[in-house]
Amino acid sequence: MITLGLNYNRKHDSSACIVRDGELLFAVAEERLSRIKHDNSFPRLAIRACLDFARARPDQLDEICFGWTTAGPGFRHDLKCLASGGLPLTYLNVLTTSVYFLSMWHQQSGVRVFRRWFGEVKARVRFVEHHLAHAISAYAYSGFEDAAVVVMDGRGAWEATSIWRGINGRLEHVLTIPFPDSLGFFYSAFTEYLGFQPNSDEWKVMGLAPYGQPKIELGAFIDTKTVPYRVHAKHIFGNGRGQFSGMSAALGPLRVPESEIDDRHKNIAFAVQDACEIAMMNVVRMAVEKTHCRNLCLAGGVALNSKANGKIATSGLVDKIFVQPAASDDGVALGAALAPHLDRGGRLPNKAMRHAYLGPEFDDAAIETALRTYKLRYTPLNNPAETAAELLAHGKILGWFQGRMEFGPRALGSRSILADARDPEMNAKVNNAVKFREWWRPFAPSLKKGAAGEYLESATDSPFMILTAQVRPEKRSVIPSVTHVDGSARPQTVEKEINPLYWRLLDEFEKRTGVPVIMNTSFNLRGEAIVHTPTDALRTFFSSGMDALVIGNFLVEK
Ligand SMILES: [Fe+2]
Repeated sequence: MITLGLNYNRKHDSSACIVRDGELLFAVAEERLSRIKHDNSFPRLAIRACLDFARARPDQLDEICFGWTTAGPGFRHDLKCLASGGLPLTYLNVLTTSVYFLSMWHQQSGVRVFRRWFGEVKARVRFVEHHLAHAISAYAYSGFEDAAVVVMDGRGAWEATSIWRGINGRLEHVLTIPFPDSLGFFYSAFTEYLGFQPNSDEWKVMGLAPYGQPKIELGAFIDTKTVPYRVHAKHIFGNGRGQFSGMSAALGPLRVPESEIDDRHKNIAFAVQDACEIAMMNVVRMAVEKTHCRNLCLAGGVALNSKANGKIATSGLVDKIFVQPAASDDGVALGAALAPHLDRGGRLPNKAMRHAYLGPEFDDAAIETALRTYKLRYTPLNNPAETAAELLAHGKILGWFQGRMEFGPRALGSRSILADARDPEMNAKVNNAVKFREWWRPFAPSLKKGAAGEYLESATDSPFMILTAQVRPEKRSVIPSVTHVDGSARPQTVEKEINPLYWRLLDEFEKRTGVPVIMNTSFNLRGEAIVHTPTDALRTFFSSGMDALVIGNFLVEK
């Protein structure tokens, strides 16, 4: 059985994956192929890439599974919220909701667009409830027999938070908290209030939070004493007196994008992160109590909050934790694609996801063609790991382009920018010369899994950079450029069996420096999607202050 899983609902992060007989073969977000960050258009390039990888024609697909219901249920829920006062009944809100519904209805929630690009197919088309698709994406890739499964995001059709119990390959629904009582909505609204891009820049708020003080009261917007939480959406919306008028009335004016960050902004970021952590902890506690399971699976955009995840992991509430690395909506493709296994009382396949190298790759021939096309000087390499380690040990900032591209928001050693984590100035150097991003955003470490316990207080099995951990106090001065102001780091632990080439790089770096840790950030410039092709990599390399590029078995230097 060949199944195509899709995320498409015109919101963000359209994606596709292909599964054969329960085995995930390939997954890619549309943004990497279209080069439009968080691309929300129909994922036709991603679908084409899936079919090419599986060497399948569209008419050979058995199932096409969207990670969303059709547009009707969400529209009815929104009308109910508007009528009951859950959302401000404004002309703009009614118009936006109606236009969205009509657009999706016209597109038959994506089916019409699919047919336009790929023709008539015999595949069964199904629409999987959004939170169920998220829940499957966490549970079915966790390797846990029994699990408490928690989904927290901005919204599905009507869902905002849901709890499930995963047991023997099935998912039992426990409870749902409907939109707009939504942690994702709360966090993204404050992200926008602070002058950043909602559904994209929440990382920036999380990174800014430790610079703030507990001086701001957000009780008007979120109540974390009522378990698990209540989000007062109307106050955030401002009761119809203009978007964010409630927030600006209570907290002062919105920050103008790109303007200076002052203490007020830092303190608000602190309060938002703190409230989100408490609410997430409440939800997890409730999930553990209701399911009697201490293995936890997390998905949904809120589960990208690595700081909160790290606190949950060390809270004592749970024994094991798996966070779907593509926790945001790109990941619902992975869950939707497995939904047919639940038919007629069936069971989900359940195999622990140990890596996210699910995307396209380019061999040396394709890379060399690109290098020759652009008439670049390059050096063939026998041992790219050794060359890269040597350059890093000499303080060079390196582009590293190898193997299959990662699925999910993190670069994990396939499409990465690497640097020496020991240099206290490296954070600023990479920020100023390469990433052109805000000064307060931390960089993450990749380290050999075997050395994780020596450097970290927790998260010693963290292949996806989705849990933060405290760096051991005695090691903070050893790897200052990847240690955040609060002593935390968001590590990727690298296993030899999973990514041998990247592990060898760390090993070679350790041989030269005594430290098996390097700085790893995504191979992209600020505001751009992570590079996909050799051409993307070369363009990014030459548009930035990187010193060298190790691309396949070739070295390009400036
Ligand atoms: Fe979602």
